[in-house]
Amino acid sequence: MIQRPIIPYEEIGAETLDKMLHIFYAKVAQNPILKPIFPDDFTETTRKQIQFQTQYLGGPNIYTEEHGHPMLKARHMPFKITPARAQAWLECMSEAMDEVGLEGKFREVYYKRLVLTAHHMINAPDEDEEVMEE
Ligand code: HEM
Repeated sequence: MIQRPIIPYEEIGAETLDKMLHIFYAKVAQNPILKPIFPDDFTETTRKQIQFQTQYLGGPNIYTEEHGHPMLKARHMPFKITPARAQAWLECMSEAMDEVGLEGKFREVYYKRLVLTAHHMINAPDEDEEVMEE
């Protein structure tokens, strides 16, 4: 029998993904090093991230349909993405994953992929390194 591949998006489900990303941005909004680079209102950011994660996890390409190719690194260029910010972003995500009860292999694989993407976004040194170079 040919089995249909398991799509991560179906495994997590739209409802949990939505909940997780709302929790995630509530944490980002409270984080002292992340907050300053985000808009005050997270509505649109959250909506885009839900669209993006939907397709990142193999669901329908709803981000690309509305916004075009993600080109994530380019879209992050206007912001200083330092190693410390990447770490903080990942910590907020890890806590959000805990709070919606993601666990096991699924969570491990998903999180590892986010670590790689987050590290790829880094485009500036940590702030104190900059001071040292001056
Ligand atoms: C490494 C740490 C990261 C930081 C500090 C960061 C920060 C930001 C900021 C400031 C924005 C703009 C928000 C706005 O103006 O609405 C943004 C947008 C976005 N980020 Fe990140 N980000 C990080 C990593 C990631 C990762 C790992 C992903 C995907 C897995 C991601 C996906 C997105 C998406 C899809 C958008 C919306 C782009 C658009 O405008 O269409 N980000 N991010």
